[in-house]
Amino acid sequence: MKHTAKANVNIALIKYWGKKNSEWNLPLTSSISVTLDKFYTITTVTYDNNLKEDILYIDNNLIVDSEFLRVKNFMDKIRQLYNIPYYAKIESMNYVPKKAGLASSASAFSALAKAATMAYNINLSDKELSSLARLGSGSASRSIYGGIVKWHEGFDHLSSYAEQISTIDDLAILICLVDTSEKKINSRDAMNTLNKYPKLKKEWILNTKDALESMEQAIFENDFESMGYILESHAKLMHYVIQETGITYLNHKSFEIIDLTEKIRNEGIPVFATMDAGPNIKIITKKEYIQKIISRYEKHATTLVSFVGKGVESI
Ligand code: DP6
Repeated sequence: MKHTAKANVNIALIKYWGKKNSEWNLPLTSSISVTLDKFYTITTVTYDNNLKEDILYIDNNLIVDSEFLRVKNFMDKIRQLYNIPYYAKIESMNYVPKKAGLASSASAFSALAKAATMAYNINLSDKELSSLARLGSGSASRSIYGGIVKWHEGFDHLSSYAEQISTIDDLAILICLVDTSEKKINSRDAMNTLNKYPKLKKEWILNTKDALESMEQAIFENDFESMGYILESHAKLMHYVIQETGITYLNHKSFEIIDLTEKIRNEGIPVFATMDAGPNIKIITKKEYIQKIISRYEKHATTLVSFVGKGVESI
């Protein structure tokens, strides 16, 4: 009746932005990510016959606001899907810079899906676990796996799941912490505004499908340069789309780091930038280049280094 799981965050190389179904959290398109090894969530779920509702602690603080509601709704779904008759105490520790454009909801719901099912002795396959984690947060479906991961958009609950597509492990990911304060608007609300712009949405879907296909090919051929150019232009496209819906995540510091990345690349070092629902910039490169470039990024922002990590695990 008690279980602890650990899951890492992931960073999308081909972004998930927009849903075709909110109730089941089905994305507009498939996406591709890399799982990191440095930023993670550890969650313990304890089912208790005496509880009248779930209790949630995040980083040792009792949570009662909208964050609790999101977790409670997810737990309700799990109870309903797997006939679990108990409420739970959920204790979660985040080793992720909070709400700074690193999707901590990915590691959080991935760890919670594993802990909440295992605590009731339900041993799901990774594929089933991935679909389940998706109900909490789309990007969480990808954190079930290590390495490079593809989330298939699917058309219903069980067909929308992720799987590992490559074990490439010579990548390094630098996280440039431009601003660690709370996001202005969370990714869920932001991506839903795309529904008000049907033409833009259609263009985004078409472009993402193209980028996804090229990215898969580049991964298959282990062609890092191509992967880099595709991931950077796709991230820029997402931010263009976000901007068109009236939301701005990047600030002048973000652009400074994007410019620096281009400069370093012009000197012959393969570095590529990606960014999510916040101003922080993530640099994707290969392990061998870190020593050459790290101090240049550190001049602009606190920079954390991460490598390719594993999928969700029981601890
Ligand atoms: C920009 O997974 O946080 O990081 O499914 O509504 O919880 P919900 O959204 P979420 O969105 C992540 C968006 C992104 C891109 C990505 O990770 O693919």
